[in-house]
Amino acid sequence: MGQGLPSKFGKCKVIRQLGQGATAIVLLAKHEGLGMLVAVKVLRKRLSESRPEFAERFLREAQMAARLEHPNIVRVIDCGVQDGYHFMVMDYVDGHNCMQLLSEYSDGVPWREATGIVLQATEALSFAAERDIIHRDVKPSNIMLDSSGRVRVTDLGLAKLAVEGVAALTQELHTVGTPNYMSPEQIRSPARLDLRADIYSLGATFYHLVTGRPPFVGDNPMDVVTRHLTEPLVPPYKVRRDLPAAVSKVICKMMAKSAKRRYQDYETLQEDLHNLQSGNDVTALDFRETFTTSEEDVRLVKLLERLSAGISVEVDDDEEPSRPADDHERGTDANGSSSLPPFSPADHALYRPPASDEGSTLVAGSSAGPDSAIWIIFVVALIGVLVLIAIAALTVFFSG
Ligand SMILES: Nc1ncnc2c1ncn2[C@@H]1O[C@H](COP(=O)(O)OP(=O)(O)OP(=O)(O)O)[C@@H](O)[C@H]1O
Ligand SMILES: [Mg+2]
Repeated sequence: MGQGLPSKFGKCKVIRQLGQGATAIVLLAKHEGLGMLVAVKVLRKRLSESRPEFAERFLREAQMAARLEHPNIVRVIDCGVQDGYHFMVMDYVDGHNCMQLLSEYSDGVPWREATGIVLQATEALSFAAERDIIHRDVKPSNIMLDSSGRVRVTDLGLAKLAVEGVAALTQELHTVGTPNYMSPEQIRSPARLDLRADIYSLGATFYHLVTGRPPFVGDNPMDVVTRHLTEPLVPPYKVRRDLPAAVSKVICKMMAKSAKRRYQDYETLQEDLHNLQSGNDVTALDFRETFTTSEEDVRLVKLLERLSAGISVEVDDDEEPSRPADDHERGTDANGSSSLPPFSPADHALYRPPASDEGSTLVAGSSAGPDSAIWIIFVVALIGVLVLIAIAALTVFFSG
C-alpha cells in the first residue's frame, strides 16, 4: 500500500485505495471483527500534524455521524487513531459517486435520473435536519450510488471540515475541495446556517447533474465564491436547451441567492420533485432573480478580489462582516491575518470556465469585461467629436 499508510486501522485490514479528496484518503478494508467490507477514511497526516484541533474535530464529528442511521446515509461505524493517522470506518458503498456518474455523459445526466437522485438525497438530508444536523458540504462527490442504484449520502455531519467564511477561505482554500456548491450565506455567515444552505448546495448539485457543468465557474476559487454571492444564475434550461422548464424552475428556486426565496423545508421541495417525476405543475414560479448586493457583500467582494489577485489581506472584524464563531477552532491566527496560497495547475483546472459559458462574465479581476468595452466606445466617440470640432474650426477659419 503506497503513501506509507499502515496496513491496518484498528480491526480493519486494508485491501486497496478507493479514492482521495483534499483532506483524506479513502481505503477499502475488511473489518476482521464484523467480517465485512468497509471504507476507511484517513485524514491526511500533513493536516492532522499541522492542525491537531482539526483532527480532534474529525473524530468528534465521526462520533456524532455514527448516530445517523438511515438507508440513504453512509453509516459511520467506528473511528480512532492508528500510528498517528486519524481515521473513520464507514459502510463501503459498492458503486460510484455522482461526479463519476457525470463523467459518463458529455452534457449532463438525463433529468429524470438526476431528479430521482436528488429526491433520494433529500430523504437523507431531511432525516439529518430533523436531528439538527446540517451537511454543509453537499456536492456530487458526496452523493454516492450503490450497485442497486440507491443513493447514499456521505460525509454527513462531518461538514465542518468544509471551508466556510472569508477567514477560513483565506486560510484553507488550498487544503480543501471546491467551493462550486457553496451557498452565499455559507461564505457570508457560516455560523448561522440552516437547512436552506444544504438546499442551495443540493440545487447546485442538481444543476451540475442536468447541465454537465457547475452553476458558477471561474478562474480560481475566489472567483467562484464571488459569483455565488453576486452573479445572477444562468437558468439551467439556457445551458441545456432540451431541459423541461419545470426542472429549471425547481433548480432556480433551490438556488435563490436569498435563503428566504428558496424552498423553506424538505417537504415542499420533495413535493415539487414528485411533481417533476409525474409531469404535474410545480409550485416554483418562473425564474426572476432580483437580488440586491448589500454593502456587506460589496465589502466582501472587494476582499475576495484582492485575494483573487494574490494580495495578502488582513482579515479583521471591520473588514470581515461575518466572522465565523469558531475561527479559533479553525486555527486562524490570533489576529486573523492570512495570505492566499498559490494555486496549483490542478486548482486552475477545477475552476476554468468551459468555452460555452453563458454566465461567465467576470465579476472580479476581469481585464476584458464589459467595463473595458464601454471605455473603448467612449474614447472612440471622444476622438470623433474632437475631429468634428477641428474640421468645423478649420472651415470657419478658412471661409472667414
Ligand atoms: N463509503 C465509501 N464507500 C466507497 N467509496 C467511498 C466512500 N466514501 C468515499 N468514497 C470514495 O472516496 C473518494 C474520496 O472521498 P473524500 O470524501 O475524501 O473526498 P471527496 O468527497 O471526493 O472530495 P473533497 O475532499 O473535496 O470533499 C470519493 O470521491 C468516493 O469516490
Ligand atoms: Mg467526500
